[in-house]
Amino acid sequence: MARTPIIAGNWKMNKTPDEAVAFVRELSPKLAERSQVDRVVAPTFLALPAVAAALGGSPVKVAAQNAHWQAYGAYTSQISVEMLAPYVDYIIIGHSECRAYLNESDENVNRKAQAILAADINPIIAVGESLAQNEAGETLPFVRAQVTAALKGIAPQDMPRVVIAYEPIWAIGTGKSASGALAEHIIKTAVRDTLAGLFGRDIAEAVRVQYGGSVKPANMEEYMTQPNIDGALVGGASLDVEDFAALIAIAARSKGP
Ligand code: PGA
Repeated sequence: MARTPIIAGNWKMNKTPDEAVAFVRELSPKLAERSQVDRVVAPTFLALPAVAAALGGSPVKVAAQNAHWQAYGAYTSQISVEMLAPYVDYIIIGHSECRAYLNESDENVNRKAQAILAADINPIIAVGESLAQNEAGETLPFVRAQVTAALKGIAPQDMPRVVIAYEPIWAIGTGKSASGALAEHIIKTAVRDTLAGLFGRDIAEAVRVQYGGSVKPANMEEYMTQPNIDGALVGGASLDVEDFAALIAIAARSKGP
C-alpha cells in the first residue's frame, strides 16, 4: 500500500508567535508544489492560533507538541485536545523530552492518543530507546512495549490516522543519527511488525512511521529510500526555512510517484 510521506517540524521551545508567523509565511510558498508529501509544523502552544491563521488555505498543516487528555478541569498549566482542535490537524505525544522532563508515562500517552482520535485529530506518537538501553541490546523489546502500551484500546479503524515516530533518544539533537539501515530494521521489526501483531497486517501497512533524530538535508535521502520509513520528525533542521524545504523536496523525490 502506498503511504503518503509525512514530514513534521517539531519546533520545541523555539520561535515567538511573531517569529513563527514570519517563518511560515516564508516557508509555505516553498512547499506549495509538494503535494505528494504531508507537510506539518509544530509551533509552541502560544503560537498555534497565529500560525493556523497565517496558514489558512495553505496545504501546510499545524501540529501541537502535546495535549492533556481531559477536556477541562483542575490541571494547572495544561491544554486540552478540545482547546487545540480549532488550530491543529496533528498532536505530537510521547516525545522523549516530555517523557524525560515532564514524567510522561506510557499510560498517559495512551490516554492522550484516545482523546486525540476521539476529537478527529491525528496523533503523532513518539517512541524510542535511550543510549543505555540501546547499548544493552534492549531496543527492540523496549520499543515494542512502548508501541503496544500507547495503542491499548485504540479501535482498528482509527489506526490509519495514527503516525508513529521512532526517535532513538541518543540521536535527538546530538548530531548522531541512526543509519538508514538500522532505523529501517527497528521500524520494521519493532514498530510495523508489532502493529501487525496488534491489528493485522493490512492495518499495519496503512500506518505511517517516521524516523526522528538529527535528520538533516545531508542524511534525509538515506531514510527516505527505506521501504518502512514514511517520513521524518525533525527538530533542529525544521527551524531553518531552506533546510526544512530541502527535507520535503528530498522526501517528494524519494517517495513520490
Ligand atoms: P532533532 O530533534 O532533529 O533536533 O534531533 C528531533 C526531535 O526531537 O523530534
